[in-house]
This record gives sequence, C-alpha cells and structure tokens, in this order.
Amino acid sequence: MAAVPVERKTIEPLARAELFSSPPGLEAGDWRKAMDFAVSRIHANIPAFRNAYPAPASVDDVYPAIANTEWTSSFWTGMLHLAGEATGDRAFRETAAGQLPDYRARLDTRTATDTHDLGFLYTLSCVAAWKLHGDGAARATALKAADLLMFRYFEKAGIIQAWGDLGDPAQRGRIIIDCAMNLPLLHWASEETRNPHYREAAVSHLARANEFLVREDWSSFHTYYFDTGTGQPLRGTTAQGYSNDSCWARGQAWAILGNALSYRYVRDPEYLETARGLAHYFLNRLPGDLVPYWDLCFTSGDEERDSSSASIAACGLLELASWLPVSDPLRRSYENAALRLLASLAASYTTASRPDSNGILLHAVYGKPMGDGVDECNIWGDYFYVEALSRVLFAWRPYW
Ligand code: GLY
Ligand code: GLY
Repeated sequence: MAAVPVERKTIEPLARAELFSSPPGLEAGDWRKAMDFAVSRIHANIPAFRNAYPAPASVDDVYPAIANTEWTSSFWTGMLHLAGEATGDRAFRETAAGQLPDYRARLDTRTATDTHDLGFLYTLSCVAAWKLHGDGAARATALKAADLLMFRYFEKAGIIQAWGDLGDPAQRGRIIIDCAMNLPLLHWASEETRNPHYREAAVSHLARANEFLVREDWSSFHTYYFDTGTGQPLRGTTAQGYSNDSCWARGQAWAILGNALSYRYVRDPEYLETARGLAHYFLNRLPGDLVPYWDLCFTSGDEERDSSSASIAACGLLELASWLPVSDPLRRSYENAALRLLASLAASYTTASRPDSNGILLHAVYGKPMGDGVDECNIWGDYFYVEALSRVLFAWRPYW
C-alpha cells in the first residue's frame, strides 16, 4: 500500500542531558530491596488471585478479584513468572502454571477475545511458560492465540484492528498505538512455526503505525482509522488521551517499548530510530520527579500522574539501549534515564506507604476521559515495574 512518507522532524535533544549523564545514587542492595518489596506483595496476593485475576485498576488502591475476562489477566500471571525467576520460590511457578488452563479455556470459548490484546494476554502467560519451563501445552495455546490474532489483520490496509468485532462500524479499521506490544506474539509464532505470515503482518502493521500514529514531531496519536476496503489512512483520534491532538503518555510509552522489542525479531534500524524519537519527546515532557502526567500535554499542575507510563518507558529505554552500539553517544543516557525513572517510582510511588493496598505502584491512570481507574494502582504498571527491576537486577530474558 503506497503512502506518502511522513516528513520527520529532527529528534529533539534531551532537555535533561546533564541529569541523565549519570545514574541515580542507588546501590545493588537498594534495587534488591525494591524487588523484595514487590515480590512480597505478589506473594501475599497468591491466595486471593490463585483462581482469579486482579481487575485492571484498583478501587481505593485495592484490586478486586475478577475472572479471566479482561485484556489485563496476564500481567498478574506474568508477575508470577517474574517473581519465580527473581526468587526461585516454586509457589510462584505453581500458581502461574495453575492458571494456564484458564487461558486455553478462554480461547476455546472465545471469551472476550475480540481484541488485539491477545498479544499481551498470551505472551506473558503462555509464551513465558514455554520459554521458562518448556511447557508444550502453553506453547500450543500461544500459537492458537497467534492464529486468532491474525484474523484481525486487514491485508489491504496492512493493519491489525484493535478493538471489537471486525464488522463493528465504530471500530472497523481502527488501530491503536498500544498494538506495538501485541506484535511480539506474532514474531514468536513465525519463529516457532517457520511460517512467515505472522511476521509479515506484524512488520506491515508496525510500518503503518509508525507512519500514521507517530506524528511529525515524534508525539503520537492514540488511535487511527483506515479504510479497510481501499487501505486509505483516514484520521487520528484519541480514546484515553486528553484530546485528538494531544499525546497520551501511556501510548507513547507503549510505542517506545514496542518498537524496541520488535527489533529483537527484525533488525530494522527504523524501529530503533522511532523508539529514540518517541523517547526524547516523552523524556522532555516529564515533570521534576520524572513520572509523567497521564497526558504529555500536561507538564505541571494538578492533573494526575500515570506511574504505569514511567514503568513501561523504563523498560523501553533499557530495551532500546541494549540494542544500540556502545559507541552511541546516548546509550548511557537512556540507561541512566530508565534508572532514574525507576528510582523515583521506588522512592515515592510504591504502596510501601499503604499497608492496606494489594497493589505495588500507586498513582496510575487507566482512562481519565471515562473516569476509569484514575489515581489508582493499574495492574500493568505493577507488571512493568517488576519487569524493569528484573532487567536491572539480573540478565533477564524477555518473554516478549
Ligand atoms: N482498553 C483495552 C485495550 O486497550 O486494548
Ligand atoms: N492498552 C490499554 C491501556 O494502556 O490502557
């Protein structure tokens, strides 16, 4: 599908170049302590969430228990995998393993599977169980999920529809920036099966997402519509951001990490350049404590922060840095920025101050325009905080 290439502006220099020239003053023991706290929360949650899942967002900083019906179930199962790796404690592994049949049943009964988030759902549950423990049933389930995700791919437009039934006029041909995180499932499926069609869809989708969702100034639209009949790009809009023209903080963070993760599978330098441009835009709009407001159009004032965007961006910066040559002048700055974001979360955003909470990170926002999970714990924020700590503490091998 031919399209006019977007004229990229030059990437903004890092506004906090001096700050990011050094890491925060934390020792290995401090990072360990941060991980120990997170692991203690995960452990304490096992009885309540052995056969249930935390809701996407807490209510008064406490996650209600729900069935495996949301796009977010696997952040809990994924945290169990991470805690198992960090501690070697079999309780985590066994609890995660006990949940895998739920993921299979969800596919078989098509329970809330009309979503591109099959990537999140099946990567952090089943692909992780396969990569960590060689669980063949989990591998088969994840491949089935990849097949189902492929049904959402529109060949002519070269995109994967994000939400809802493929015939729903409100959602047809709509992509969202978050989808960059669902593509590793397709890349993994191509590697496992040696069938290139999953990879081809992922490559096409990311090319279109980077072309149309990422604006000329390296900010991003949350969502974009395409005409699935002709393949024509139509318009950018938001769902969870402040306005159609603003830049939703979490979307920007998803795209930094998603582009850097795709580079694992396809060594396209464009992915790293895109992650870099998005990262500079993100980092340059952070307030003093480096935890963004829920939309990057806010840089001061009383709007809520979204701590989950900081934990996702920390993973993205570490992933990006890991692929850059040591000669890259900004490689260290990205690592230092990631560590500083994380250090700020560890110092001021955890539930250590809230013994009544069953979450890990306070002050996240799910969907401000709809009043969903505003200034609450968000389960993906917790997951990516623990993933980021794993990246800092040991040679963590991504489930992605
Ligand atoms: N809020 C569901 C999704 O973004 O996929
Ligand atoms: N993927 C949905 C969200 O980030 O809220």
